[in-house]
Amino acid sequence: MQKVIFIGLGTMGYHMAGHLSKNKNIELSVFNRTIEKAHKWHSEFTKDIVTSLKEQIQNFDIIILCAGRDEDIEEIFFDANNGIANNIKQSAIVIDHTTISYGMTLKLSNKLIAKNINFIDAPVSGGEIGAKNGMLSIMAGGSKNKIAQVEPILNSYAKNITHMGQVGTGQLAKMANQICITGVLQGLSEALIFAEENNLDIDKLLSAISGGAAGSWQMENRLKTMHKKEFDFGFAIKWMIKDLSYTLNQAKQSNLDLELTQQVYEKYKNLANKGCENFDTSALVLHKKK
Ligand SMILES: NC(=O)c1ccc[n+]([C@@H]2O[C@H](COP(=O)([O-])OP(=O)(O)OC[C@H]3O[C@@H](n4cnc5c(N)ncnc54)[C@H](OP(=O)(O)O)[C@@H]3O)[C@@H](O)[C@H]2O)c1
Repeated sequence: MQKVIFIGLGTMGYHMAGHLSKNKNIELSVFNRTIEKAHKWHSEFTKDIVTSLKEQIQNFDIIILCAGRDEDIEEIFFDANNGIANNIKQSAIVIDHTTISYGMTLKLSNKLIAKNINFIDAPVSGGEIGAKNGMLSIMAGGSKNKIAQVEPILNSYAKNITHMGQVGTGQLAKMANQICITGVLQGLSEALIFAEENNLDIDKLLSAISGGAAGSWQMENRLKTMHKKEFDFGFAIKWMIKDLSYTLNQAKQSNLDLELTQQVYEKYKNLANKGCENFDTSALVLHKKK
């Protein structure tokens, strides 16, 4: 039976590892930097907790991560004292669900592939609710055969796995996803401000336009909460700032000017400076015109 470790029991990883714990074809262990979270997870799902990642990582055939950002991946793999890169066994498969930059993805994959370790970049979309329901979408980059091999494992928490191409294309697809979201939210914010200014009934507006060409997931799921100024849930602005910084940096490398994405990025930084960094990204509507 394949030995699998899931690293990072945060907002997303806690649920993803929870679904994975029910997969009877693997032997699962988990690791979390803050051990209390691992204990909480263990009390719910019972599988083993790894306490010393560097010493125990060599026991695993498949290593799955869902950490936060570039710096976390750097620390987990390359920290001078505790980095795991040199202890992973040959021919293991590393699957990274963290949204990180293209540059960091290539740095990590190049180091691992040189040691005969397989690497799949596999950022996710679907948010906490998608993780809770095991309905995430995965954009995967790497060897087609290796992705096919781990698909039954990823299916524990994903409804849709798309092989985008070579290593890094998963992260590039996630960047395209975030560009789309910023554009939709900016349009939705302006439409809501306009509708409120003109005293339109927002419930009626939603029912009138959500089924047509203007409709979107954001409109269906966020227009009413934006109107009620409820933002204490969902995908945090601080995460979107991180993702857009990777995206804009990547665009710059090909001399692309992503005008709207840049504007929305500045607005999110502004909102974060005003204390809204943990609000859902639909709080873009707070960045008013006046
Ligand atoms: N939240 C969403 O709706 C959502 C949606 C799509 C994609 N994503 C992406 O998914 C990733 C995870 O998001 P999340 O919301 O689950 O984040 P989170 O709640 O902050 O969880 C991050 C996890 O990574 C661990 N970690 C961070 N740095 C580490 C380090 N240096 N060494 C070891 N462990 C480390 C944290 O451990 P500790 O417990 O010790 O802090 C925590 O378990 C991010 O890249 C995010 O952009 C999130």
